[in-house]
Order: sequence, then structure tokens, then C-alpha cells
Amino acid sequence: MCGIVATVGSSQATRILLDGLHRLEYRGYDSAGLAVIGPDGLQLHRKVGRVQELAGDVPEDLPGSIGIAHTRWATHGEVTEDNAHPHLDSSGRIAVVHNGIIENMAPLKARLEAEGVVFRSQTDSEVLVHLIGRIYRDPESPACGDPLAAMRSALRLVRGTWGIAVLFADHPGAIFTARNGSPLVVGLGDGQSYLASDPQALVPYTRRVVFLEDGDVARIDADGVQTTRMDGGAVDSAIETLDDTWGEGDRGDYPHLMLKEIHEQPEALERCLSGRIVPEGGTAKLGGLDLDARELGRISRIGLIGCGTAYYACQVGAELIEKLARVPAKAEIASEFRHRNPVIDPDALFFAVSQSGETADTMGAIREIQLKGGRVMGVVNVVGSSIARACGHGVYIHSGPEMAVASTKAFSNMVAALAVFTLMLARQRTLSAHEGRRYVEQLRAVPDLVRRYLANPGPIDTLVEWVTDPRTRMVLFLGRGGSAPVAAEGALKLMEVAYVPCIAYPAGEMKHGPIALLERDAPVIVIAPRDELRDKTLSNLQECKARGARVAIIHSDGDAIARHADLSIPVPETNPLFSPLLTVLPLQLLAYRTGLALGRDIDRPRNLAKSVTVE
Ligand code: F6R
Repeated sequence: MCGIVATVGSSQATRILLDGLHRLEYRGYDSAGLAVIGPDGLQLHRKVGRVQELAGDVPEDLPGSIGIAHTRWATHGEVTEDNAHPHLDSSGRIAVVHNGIIENMAPLKARLEAEGVVFRSQTDSEVLVHLIGRIYRDPESPACGDPLAAMRSALRLVRGTWGIAVLFADHPGAIFTARNGSPLVVGLGDGQSYLASDPQALVPYTRRVVFLEDGDVARIDADGVQTTRMDGGAVDSAIETLDDTWGEGDRGDYPHLMLKEIHEQPEALERCLSGRIVPEGGTAKLGGLDLDARELGRISRIGLIGCGTAYYACQVGAELIEKLARVPAKAEIASEFRHRNPVIDPDALFFAVSQSGETADTMGAIREIQLKGGRVMGVVNVVGSSIARACGHGVYIHSGPEMAVASTKAFSNMVAALAVFTLMLARQRTLSAHEGRRYVEQLRAVPDLVRRYLANPGPIDTLVEWVTDPRTRMVLFLGRGGSAPVAAEGALKLMEVAYVPCIAYPAGEMKHGPIALLERDAPVIVIAPRDELRDKTLSNLQECKARGARVAIIHSDGDAIARHADLSIPVPETNPLFSPLLTVLPLQLLAYRTGLALGRDIDRPRNLAKSVTVE
């Protein structure tokens, strides 16, 4: 959440900063700002709204070849220009951009105010710049005049998370930075260096990067980075090279990123399966897990942890694992898991599932598992992300860059990666080679079935009319088994992209309460592929119809259940275990087209951000 970009070298800074902010805008888009050091000293520009607004405010030829910039997702303080970053200290000679949360803001602010500091914003971040400034200018302090020492002393007083970039007008040749819980990556160019919240901002300029670690405090100049720890000890940081998956992420010929990413699913799924399936053995291999047959055989239970869409993918994964591999599996919401003091079975295996690899709640859950000696592996899209690195082992889902705030292709690839793992595990436990080969064939056929559906998606626009009907007060999504998380994912997508109130329920649970909400013509969307629960789901949808609701059914092509629908949306049939990869597609399109019909900002829905790096 929030995007940070900084650069130092010989090129004009603002061009690089604004370009970087555009690339990071998915991390937050409430307001944006930048500070550069030019011939007239430290210059500050800030604007409420998108990076576009800021770009309009910054003179194109603004001199200065060192600067820091920020795109904000508000935590403390409303969306105003005063609350936009960068923030200045009282001297106006130190500027800070911050990503994260200062938890002990209140006592620190009270102390600074008692010492006479006047705050200009309501943000927690402003506390940081004043702390740094006071220590830096305090003649009594051993850190006086020393940027890194002043930052270390200030950060020792702070509780919370931070990724910061700091400009000192006295030091116009260097950017100073520190990381604790909020990602930062340094880019190394030729006589030009960069800093960003994620590599997406760096790819046009360099592929040589250094990922900062929690507890790092660093000085970056045109020639590179010198990293130290909070105790002042030096760090020998490894230089890594970003691979080719970084750098796509434009809209191509599509009007929106979300639509492009929906249509990328067949290729994304093929990438995820490629090289991992062993057709003749009816199994799969995932080298990144580094688990041998004996270890796979010993796993007592599997926990799958994620947030939002990733959590629903975890639920689908848990269903797959338990059904096919017969190993107890449970999906958990990361923000709940980490705070409930969970019991960690030493023979359990946990998966932390995340597109961005930066989600703070998921990171917190990983720490909790590791602290208790548990084993946790990543199921992550972004290569080299914090979660991938914290876990050490895992599976990359290979969706390619997902830039729309609403997750689509990452959901599918999370499910596909977990399906591959399930096959591998099941073959070690209960599944015969013969059965395994059948599942392998069915899984390999899914990308083509997805392609086929997307070429002819059925009457989605009629469903959009139901949803946007002025009489519609909410939309109910129902499904059972593996289709219950698909229902929840459909509801989440429609809420976040179109701002339509939705409820998702396991179909059998509806009669225990939500049925009271049904009114004449209320839209009910039922996910009912041809599986062993289909007939039970059919009874539940009859209960809805009996109360005057309009029922749309997403079902397997050719299934007679269509007869019971007011609107039938067939999807190609696959093994019921893999059906979420098909049944989710109409729901993604429904959210997209409803958002479009209602004039929503599809790729940047209000109040949201792509990478949720605060708790
Ligand atoms: C929904 C969505 C969010 C994310 C959630 C987890 O479309 O994008 O619900 O799924 O914030 O994000 P990651 O997967 O990056 O951990």
C-alpha cells in the first residue's frame, strides 16, 4: 500500500519519479507528491487525486537530479493535500515519504508538540520526519549532522512498520532509506540509482536490484547503495537480476487492465502448469517446495492462509487437498489466524497464498508459524516478493503481472498451483497412477476450456441488467462445496468493482437466515456445476424461486439444471474438482461489465489498493 519511488544520478529526477508513480499507482491513488533538490533547494509538489493531477502541477523542466515521490493510500488522516507525502520537518530541509503505520504515533506526537513542534498534517508519517529532523539538528546528539545515525535513533523510538525514503537538503547527492515491514527495492543503473516499493517502477531503467530487508538502513547515491543494519553494522547486499516477467502490465488493445487480465487466463494457466505435470506418472512435480516423498508422506495436515481473493483460492485448495489427497486441510483468513495464537503442529504444512507477496496480514501469519517452529511455503505470483523470500520455499503461480486492483488471473493460477500440489501429494498417498493420469489429463484440458468459454461467455449482459435494476438492493450468491468459495469470490468482485452490495453463502446455509432478505425479483446467482452436491443446491435454488427471486445458474454445459433457471449461464464441463476455474469466469465478467455499466473506475476502484501492506 502506498507507492514510493526515488532516484539519484545525473538524469532529471521528476520524469523518472512521475513515470515510477504511474507504474505504482495501483498501490494507492488518493493523492500523490514529490520532492526534489534543485538549484533553489528542496522543492515540494503535492496533489489530491491521481498521479495525473500531480504531473499537471509539476513544471516539465523542473531542475534537480535527486528526488523522492509517493502515491498514497490513506491510513491516518483524510485525503487532503496537507496529508499527502512528502512531509517536511520544521526546518523545511528534510523530506520523508513513508509507507507503513506508526503504531505509537499518539505519544510521540504529544511529546514533539510539547517540545514546540507544529504539525501540518494528521498523518503518522509526519511524526517520523520531525523525529529525524530534531535528532539530526540536535548539537547534543551524537547523531547530529549524520543522516543515517539520525534515522536509526529516530526509528528506535518508533513502533510499527515503515519503508521510508528521506532527502536531506544538506546532502544533495544521496537518498537515505530504511525498511521494516514495508517492501523496498534498490535499482542499480549506470551512474543513476533508484529506489521503489516494488520492481514494477524500476523495469524501464534497470533490472539489477537489491531487495532491502527488515532492519536495513541504507544510503543510495549515483554509484550504488551502502546498506547497514539498525546497529550500524554493514551488510553485504546481494545484487539480483529481475526476470522477464517484470515489465508487462499495460492495457494492450483492451479498454481496461481487468478485462485484459481476465482474457489472459488461458495462457496464464498454461504457464502455471507447464513443466510441472508428469503425464505418464499421473502426477506432478514442484521443485520449489523441496519436499521428498518421505516428507510428503509425513504431512499431518495442511493450512492455507491468505486474504480476500487469495483466501477464496485457499478454500478451493483445501477442498481439493482433502477430497483428492485425503489430508486434513483448512483455509484461514490471515488477519484472524495470526492473532488467535494458533496451535502449530510440527508435522503440518502451511501455504501462504498471495498474488503480491507483500500482504501484511499474510506476512504476520508467516512470522507466527515460523516463530512456533512450523513449516510454511509461499504460493505467490511476484517473484522475489517479501512473502516469497520470507518462506524460502514455495510455488510461483506465474500469472504474469496483475495490475488491475481486482484480482482475476491470480485467483485462477493460485487454484491451479494448488491443484498441481494436490496431484503430487495424492499420488504419494491414495491415488493410483491410473486415476492420477485421468486427473492430469483433465487439468491440462482446463486452459482450452477457459479459452472456449471466454470466446462465447453467454448472457452476462442480461445478468448485468438484473444487478443494475433500480429495484435491486443486493445480490445473493450461492454455492456448495468447491463452489461456495467461488460464490464468495463472485460477490467480492462485484462489490469491489461495481460497489453493489452482495452476500455470498454456502447454499445450504441460506435457509438459516439470509433467506429473509429475498424479495420479488431479487437476483440470486447460483453456482451449480455437475457434481455430487448439484441436487442439494437445486433444492436451495427452488427455495429462492418459491420466494419470488430471479435465479441465474452457472452450470456445466448440457446439464438439465438449466431448466430451473430464469437465466442459464453454461460453462464447459470439467472434473468437478477443477470446476472453480470455469465457474469463476462469468462472475469476473459480471463484475467487469456491471462496473462498466455503472461508470465505475474499473481498474482503480475507490478506497482500495492492490498491495495491502498495512494490517
Ligand atoms: C480482490 C483482491 C484482494 C486481494 C487481497 C490479497 O480482488 O484483489 O482481496 O486478493 O488483498 O492480496 P494478495 O493476493 O496480494 O495477498
